[in-house]
Amino acid sequence: MLKRISMLVLAGVTAMAMASCGGGGGGGTAAGDDKITMGFSQVGAESGWRTANTKSVQESAKAAGIELKFSDAQQKQENQIKAIRSFIQQRVDVIAFSPVVESGWDTVLKEAKNAKIPVILTDRAVDSPDTSLYKTFLGSDFVEEGRKAGKWLVEEFKDATGTVNIVELQGTTGSAPANDRKAGFAEVIQADPKFKVIASQTGDFTRAKGKEVMEAFLKAHPDIDVLYAHNDDMALGAIEAIEGAGKTPGKDIKIVSVDAVKDGMQALADGKINFIVECSPLLGPQLMDLAKKVVKGEQVPARVVTEETTFTQEQAKQALPSRQY
Ligand code: AHR
Repeated sequence: MLKRISMLVLAGVTAMAMASCGGGGGGGTAAGDDKITMGFSQVGAESGWRTANTKSVQESAKAAGIELKFSDAQQKQENQIKAIRSFIQQRVDVIAFSPVVESGWDTVLKEAKNAKIPVILTDRAVDSPDTSLYKTFLGSDFVEEGRKAGKWLVEEFKDATGTVNIVELQGTTGSAPANDRKAGFAEVIQADPKFKVIASQTGDFTRAKGKEVMEAFLKAHPDIDVLYAHNDDMALGAIEAIEGAGKTPGKDIKIVSVDAVKDGMQALADGKINFIVECSPLLGPQLMDLAKKVVKGEQVPARVVTEETTFTQEQAKQALPSRQY
């Protein structure tokens, strides 16, 4: 009898030890040792920013000794949901993802929570009211980025007496950066009725779509003064369209965009773009630090905002030689 009780106690202790070795994660590291395994669902490869972000995440995971299971969703929410479900099945220790759109995540995030796998949002937010579904959100303040673009515009056209006709190239419909950059910009320019957004359409954050939509804008509106592009890639596509229409980007049509990737900064230095609001893609190192903490069950801040700046033409010329992305 005593022997049987000892066996039961031993079995209980072993079970408890096995349950605790996964920390905050999926009940044991998926790599089968102490190495943390992260499932990462990326939006896609739509822009220079995204390419730099992917590189940052992959390099930082390697440097931090974290095994990365990387999945590219090709800008489709259903692919991200599939990837997250597969990470849950594989019992990864932590899931990180950049949600392509803001809405529609509750069900899959609840599945991760029920499986006791912590989730980190990176770059983009979700609009779920239940913030217990994720541990933290690391990324930019997109509303503030829109405000910065608007403030530049107000200053640039402070002496203009007539109407300033603006066209807007929005990012992916329903995505946090598209929603927030639009809102922040509108908030600032609405104070002066001379600023008029005469057309606003998505260019899906890509160069090709930016060009296509700008071509349509130019045909419909011969009197465009300003282009506000939610990212550099769309601005670069639009520059091709403007030049194709026989106009001079940066002069006939002033351009303000967001990101500050190398190609955008070059266009700014060349005078084809007039002002860029920075959005940093180098989130990898902070993401890995946060991942280690949440897997250990440590407290992390609910929101970690990326530090960012803005660039004029002169500042772009100075920054370009050492620009990492
Ligand atoms: O979510 C960040 C945005 O996504 C970047 O500004 C844009 O270039 C990218 O596609």
